[in-house]
Amino acid sequence: MPLSPPKFPFKLAFNSGATSDAPYGTRQSAVLNAAGLAEARRCIAAWPGYQPTPLVDLPGLAKTLTIGRISYKDEAARFGLRSFKPLGGAYAVERCLMRVVAEKTGRRDIDPAEILDGSHAAIVAQVTVTAATDGNHGRSVAWGARMFGCRCVIYINEAVTEAREHAIAAYGAEVRRNPGSYDDAVRETFAVARREGWHVIPDTPGDGQEDGVALDAPREVTQGYAVLAAEAIEQLTEGVVPSHLFLQAGVGGMAAAVCAGFWETFGAKRPKTILVEPEQCACWFASLKDQRPTAITGDTDSFMSGLACGEVSQLAWEILQPGAAAAMTLPDAAAKETMCLLADGIEGDPPLVAGESGVAGVAALIAAAQDETARSALGLGPDSHVLVIGSEGATDEALYREVVGRSWQEVAA
Ligand SMILES: Cc1ncc(COP(=O)(O)O)c(C=O)c1O
Repeated sequence: MPLSPPKFPFKLAFNSGATSDAPYGTRQSAVLNAAGLAEARRCIAAWPGYQPTPLVDLPGLAKTLTIGRISYKDEAARFGLRSFKPLGGAYAVERCLMRVVAEKTGRRDIDPAEILDGSHAAIVAQVTVTAATDGNHGRSVAWGARMFGCRCVIYINEAVTEAREHAIAAYGAEVRRNPGSYDDAVRETFAVARREGWHVIPDTPGDGQEDGVALDAPREVTQGYAVLAAEAIEQLTEGVVPSHLFLQAGVGGMAAAVCAGFWETFGAKRPKTILVEPEQCACWFASLKDQRPTAITGDTDSFMSGLACGEVSQLAWEILQPGAAAAMTLPDAAAKETMCLLADGIEGDPPLVAGESGVAGVAALIAAAQDETARSALGLGPDSHVLVIGSEGATDEALYREVVGRSWQEVAA
C-alpha cells in the first residue's frame, strides 16, 4: 500500500538578507575556503577507517512528494561514531595538538601525520582537551583525543541522556555532569580550562574566547564539516547541482559548511538553502527575521538534541546570513515520525537508520512539499532535486528503539 507521509505543522520565513546571485565573498572565505578544505581533507582522509559516507537516492519519497529527486547523504556510519561530528571536533583536536607541538618544539612546520603516527607522543600525552556538549560534539572530541593520545574532559549538562554520557566515556574521556543548561556547561568548561591550562575545543565562538582561549577551534570544526559537502558534490553525477538543500541547524556550523561548499563551487548556480530547527529553539529563524544574531531564551530543550541551541554561531552567521534563502521550524513530533518513516522506507526506498537530529531536513522537506503555499514559495516541484543531510544514525540506541519500535540493527538488516 502506498504510504502517504504525515503533514507536520511548521513555520517558514524567507531571509530578507539573502543574496542568491552574489559570488562567494571575502567575508565567507575568511571562515571557510578551498585551501582550508583541502587541508582538512588531507588530514581526515589519513585517519584510520576514513571513507566517504554514502549518498542514497530516495525515489519512493520523491515520487510520493512529487519532487524530481531526493538525495540523502547518510552520516550514520561515519567513523563508527554514527554522526558527521568527528569531521569537526576530532579535526580541531588534531589542529590544536599541532599548535602545541609547534610551540614546544620550536618548529612551525608540524605535519598532521606526525600527530597521527605518535612522533610527539610524550608532548601530546601532557595535553588535556575539553569541551561542553549535548552529545555528539563531545563524543567527537573524545574520539579524536583517544586517536591522537591526549587527555580529554567533557562537560555535559543535566538534560544529556545517560546513553550519550556513556558513549562519550567509552572513548576514554572523563565526563563531568554540570548542573544547569548547556550554556552553563560552556561557561564551566572555559573557567576550568583557564585555571588548569587545558585547551577548549568549542564548536562555536562564544563566552570566554575573548581572552584568547581556543579561538581557532570553532573555525576548524566548521572547516572539517565541509568535507561532507565536498564528498557530496563529488558523489552527485558530474555537473548535477541540486536545486535545494534542506539543512538542520543547531549553532549552524554544519549548515554553513554545506551551504559554503556548494556556494564556493557553483557560485550563483548554487542550490537554495533552507535552514531547519526545532520550534522551541529556533535561533536561526529569529536571527534571519531580525537580520542580526538573536538569542532564544527560556527552555531550549528539544528531542532533536543536537539542534537544541539558543544562539547562532557568529562564524556560521557570516555564511548563512547572506547564504540561506529561508528558515523553517518544526515540532519535535515531526522528527519522531520521520525517524519511523525512514526506518520503514517509503515506496521501496532503502530503510535508513536516522536519529532525532539527523531527520530534521527530511521532515521539513516532507512538510513543505505537501503545503501548496510553501511548495510554490520555495519552488519545489517535479523538476526539483533536493539534497538532505542525514546527519546522525542511532547515536542514542535506547531512544532509537523506543521511538522506532525496533533496534537500529534490525532496521539496518
Ligand atoms: C546529529 C546532528 N545534526 C546536526 C547538528 C547541528 O550542527 P550545528 O550545531 O553545527 O548546526 C548537530 C549538532 O550537534 C548534530 O549532533
